[in-house]
Parts: sequence; C-alpha cells; structure tokens
Amino acid sequence: MTGDHYFTAEPSTAANPREVEFSVAGRDYALASSAGVFSAARLDPGTAVLLRKADLPAAGTTGALLDVGCGFGPITCVLATSAPSATVWAVDVNARARELTEANAARVGAADRVRVAAPDDVPADLTFAQIWSNPPIRVGKDELHQLLLRWLPRLAPDGVAWLVAARYLGGDSLHRWLAEQGWQVGRTASQKGYRVLRVTR
Ligand SMILES: C[S@@+](CC[C@H](N)C(=O)[O-])C[C@H]1O[C@@H](n2cnc3c(N)ncnc32)[C@H](O)[C@@H]1O
Repeated sequence: MTGDHYFTAEPSTAANPREVEFSVAGRDYALASSAGVFSAARLDPGTAVLLRKADLPAAGTTGALLDVGCGFGPITCVLATSAPSATVWAVDVNARARELTEANAARVGAADRVRVAAPDDVPADLTFAQIWSNPPIRVGKDELHQLLLRWLPRLAPDGVAWLVAARYLGGDSLHRWLAEQGWQVGRTASQKGYRVLRVTR
C-alpha cells in the first residue's frame, strides 16, 4: 500500500509498465501506461465516451489544443493524430503521467507537435482553439472548479471545450456550475452514465 492517488505529483508506486490498446475513429492505438497514473490498465470508460461522442478536431485544424490532466496521454494522442497540423499541449501534475505522454506522443509520430508540461510551465499568453478534459473529479469540487477557472478562460474567442464527467460523480452539477459561470454549455451526449459537455463562450 502507498498513499498515492492518480494525481500524486511523484508517484512512489513501482512503475510496472504495461500497454493500453484502443480504437478511436477507425484508428488503433497501443500506448504505454504504468502503475501510478489514472486508469493504467485500460482506456477509462469516461475517456472512451468523450472520444466517441465529442467532435474530434478536423484534419485541417491549426493552432494550439489543450488536454487538461493528460494522464498517460490517450486524449492527447487522439487529438494529435486527428489534427496533424495542430500543436497539442498536454498538462498534468503527475510527473509519471507526463513522461508516459511524451513517450506516447513519440509512439504516434507526434513528438514534435506535442508539448507536455506541468501546469505552471505553460506559457501564460497562449490561448487554445480547443480544450479537452476528462477532469480529475476526485480532487474535490473546489479544486476541480479552480482547475476549470484556470484553463477555460484561455479558450480562444471561437474555441470549444469538451469535458466528460460521470453523472454519479457530479456531471450534472458541473454542467449547472459552468452555466452559472457564464459559459454556454450543451450536453451533447449521455452514455453509460457519463455526460459529455460542449462548452463555449
Ligand atoms: C480523470 S484523469 C484523466 C487522465 C487522462 N486524460 C485519461 O483520459 O486517461 C485526470 C488527470 O488530471 C490530473 N490532475 C489532477 N489535478 C490536476 C491539476 N491541478 N492540473 C492538471 N492535471 C491535474 C491527474 O493527475 C490525472 O492524470
């Protein structure tokens, strides 16, 4: 037993490397994963619903995209392969998650377009055409709200954010809270108990 959570900055759990395979939009992915990161053994079902139900960036998308809380990088890798002219910023507090995302960006041939960073290392003046997240609900409501208040304002004026949250973990209250903050929120899908939210200005 260790005191690690998936959002621990420096996991002490032995790495125990493994591989996670999944398909999105007709493409197969085989990504490196490891103990000490979120959903290390399989693509998280919430992430799977998000990647299936949200509108993946068109192939011609340019500019910067952001994956908040990248884990081992499944969303980042799908964004980078879907939009080969875009740059994807992958942010996580967990150092092991960042290392895995770097390795996985190389696996999908996008090492030159994926920037993996700790939250404080993202340039302050950068805005994002799209923000994607399966956010860390288990950090608690206040911290989750702080996280979203930190990153959503960095959406470009015509940008779109896609979020997924389990209904039982507060997907509907997250929807209400975002709307109260002045965001336009559409619930584009509800599958297997997960809410996919489309957020714009
Ligand atoms: C629900 S997991 C999603 C991981 C990955 N995107 C996936 O779909 O498998 C949320 C991630 O957010 C990270 N996280 C927690 N607090 C954070 C923060 N303040 N800033 C950035 N990432 C954070 C966690 O370490 C975790 O990797």
